[in-house]
Amino acid sequence: EKGGYDHFMLKEIYEQPKSIADCLRGRLDAKSGRLVLGGLRDYMNKFQNAERIIITACGTSWHAGLVAEYLFEEFARVPVEVEYASEFRYRNPVVGEKDFIIAISQSGETADTLAAIELAKSKGATIFGVCNVVGSSIPRTTHAGSYTHAGPEIGVASTKAFTAQISVLAMMALKLGYQRGTLPENKYIQLLHELEAIPGKVEQALKTNDAIKYIAEEYKDVRNALYLGRGYNFPVALEGALKLKEISYIHAEGYPAAEMKHGPIALIDEEMPVFFIATKDSSYEKVVSNIQEVKARKGKVIAVVTEGDTQVKALADHVIEIPETHEAFAPLVAVVPLQLLSYHIAVMRGCNVDQPRNLAKSVTVE
Ligand code: F6R
Repeated sequence: EKGGYDHFMLKEIYEQPKSIADCLRGRLDAKSGRLVLGGLRDYMNKFQNAERIIITACGTSWHAGLVAEYLFEEFARVPVEVEYASEFRYRNPVVGEKDFIIAISQSGETADTLAAIELAKSKGATIFGVCNVVGSSIPRTTHAGSYTHAGPEIGVASTKAFTAQISVLAMMALKLGYQRGTLPENKYIQLLHELEAIPGKVEQALKTNDAIKYIAEEYKDVRNALYLGRGYNFPVALEGALKLKEISYIHAEGYPAAEMKHGPIALIDEEMPVFFIATKDSSYEKVVSNIQEVKARKGKVIAVVTEGDTQVKALADHVIEIPETHEAFAPLVAVVPLQLLSYHIAVMRGCNVDQPRNLAKSVTVE
């Protein structure tokens, strides 16, 4: 049942070219400019006229929500808030009929996310679910939704569900931007092509596995790690850190790279590995400066870079090369090496990768 892999987590990481393609299939056809999300059809008016989008979720799904904030704001110019469901539900939030709520959940059973939905619903908001498990509680509670179609995710650490969530949210953002007129047709078509190319690029990114094993060997005994990224790659830094801590029990923190100088920089010494997501995008030069700041303090730098990179390569201790993508879709590819890295480190440390201590696949208690 693990399809020849040692663990479900590894199998699920390797399934991503297919799970993302499954998610896009029947919905996106770049050549004909077709983009259809069945679940949105009856609610497109509400979506288009929403004054605000509120995304609510927990854990990895919340990280997918953060990526979506950048996508919706860039392409559709709608204000977005991303809320931990557990905070939103207890805060007496300002929410009403003009708000479009997107609840993201792999399991569809997360208690806090369900409660956040009930609360927003009682205030008259429209609720849209992005879930993986068909027929679970959240899709039954929301007004509408789109499944991620990633297939069953057994490993407790979420991997393929995350990339499928971002894929659905990216389609929603492109659709919304096009309908609202904030995304011109030529750019929209170009982005559809870019998104359609992602499964192939994830396939390429998986080929970094051997290089990553080597890096894992070198850093498996560290006690702390820092993950830094900017823009679309900031949520990837958070997700990379979460993956490492949940399965390897190494203390890891993710930060926007620019926040480093406001505190975490104090932690940097020759013992501290700093994982940068430094792909070629609009904040690349800024990230290069942040890498220089770490090297000046003798930190170890491991960077995920775009193929052909030279600047970061000259500075970093190790680089992991991934194919070039439009920056908006970089998280889908850049997260893959970080998933593999956490996996290998956890295996080398003898951890129970598929069932890490203290964690459950569905968090049905608050
Ligand atoms: C991380 C992880 C958790 C879940 C979180 C939300 O690998 O598994 O952080 O992402 O518990 O779960 P869902 O998406 O099922 O609502």
